[in-house]
Amino acid sequence: MCAKKVVFSGIQPTGNIHLGNYLGAVKNWVDMQDAYDNIFCVVNSHAITIKQDPKELMQKTIDLACMLIACGIDPMKSSLFIQSEIDYHPALAWILDCNIFMGDMTRMTQFKDKSKKNPKNINVGLFNYPALMAADILLYQVDLVPVGSDQKQHIELTRNVAMKFNRDFGECFKIPEPLIIKEGARVMGLDDPLIKMSKSATGKNHAIFLLDEPDVILTKIKKATTDSNSSIVFDENRPGIYNLLCIYEVLSGKDRTSIEDEFSTKGYGVFKNALADIVIDRLKPIQERYRQLKSDEKYIKEILQNGANAVLPRARDTYNKAKDLIGLL
Ligand code: AMP
Ligand code: TRP
Repeated sequence: MCAKKVVFSGIQPTGNIHLGNYLGAVKNWVDMQDAYDNIFCVVNSHAITIKQDPKELMQKTIDLACMLIACGIDPMKSSLFIQSEIDYHPALAWILDCNIFMGDMTRMTQFKDKSKKNPKNINVGLFNYPALMAADILLYQVDLVPVGSDQKQHIELTRNVAMKFNRDFGECFKIPEPLIIKEGARVMGLDDPLIKMSKSATGKNHAIFLLDEPDVILTKIKKATTDSNSSIVFDENRPGIYNLLCIYEVLSGKDRTSIEDEFSTKGYGVFKNALADIVIDRLKPIQERYRQLKSDEKYIKEILQNGANAVLPRARDTYNKAKDLIGLL
């Protein structure tokens, strides 16, 4: 029997986890757990590229781990750990840094976006973010990286630096493939369907958070921006209703034609209520499990410790190999 493929992905403990994170990333991680050898990481070292309150960051790191388990990440099937627990991540990032050209790093659009949003804190770590992300992935000799489509460029850079290193110094890293599931890959803001739903946007009705109460979810969906047209069809040129329909599509598992047949003549009000119902139903058990887990932080910390212990040897092996190949004692 051939060994299962290795999957690695990460999520930052900044802001609150929202429906975009769930549909674009976490739901896929949960759905693929049985088929792969899974490693999931709360990337707290990436989070400090943006200013964080230290106490809050510690709490959010644990809370996010708790939420991932509540969403269905099963510690028996997946290793879940905190990035800062394994020092090989920043150590390998440095070696990679010395093998990434400024020109390639300067092309990264996430850096440009985040610099615009945080003009007073354009730090070197923010620029260097993709090297740390490449280290996260390459340390574990990963086959697949399931992410939302916004991360595609970072994975391309990861592949390029890995191939260059292997070519220049000898075989060291497995070349990972991005795994971007089309449905849910890019959930847009409810208040502005032209920008992706994000943890940092400030609009009150921008995102549905996984811990939102049912009445809050209903209000946000009712207020979601649509257009003056009233037919309900999948049309990318009508981004507001298209975004809502895509969310409905992933959560209901129905195909586009049957969704259009069901709602095309019913008007936005009926469709929005149906969407709110399906979102609320999906989040209810997650919220209940989250509350149970939150009351047992010791258990969460134990899972995280076990996760780190399980993956540490792989990280150590890869790092030592890279160090040796490049001539570091
Ligand atoms: P982050 O919130 O930046 O830590 O992202 C964690 C994961 O969620 C990554 O795989 C992202 O690609 C994914 N993600 C973030 N925002 C969205 C969105 N609006 N739609 C789909 N996926 C997203
Ligand atoms: N950059 C990713 C994001 O913002 C998070 C991340 C960090 C990640 N390291 C990773 C994702 C490694 C996949 C693999 O969403």
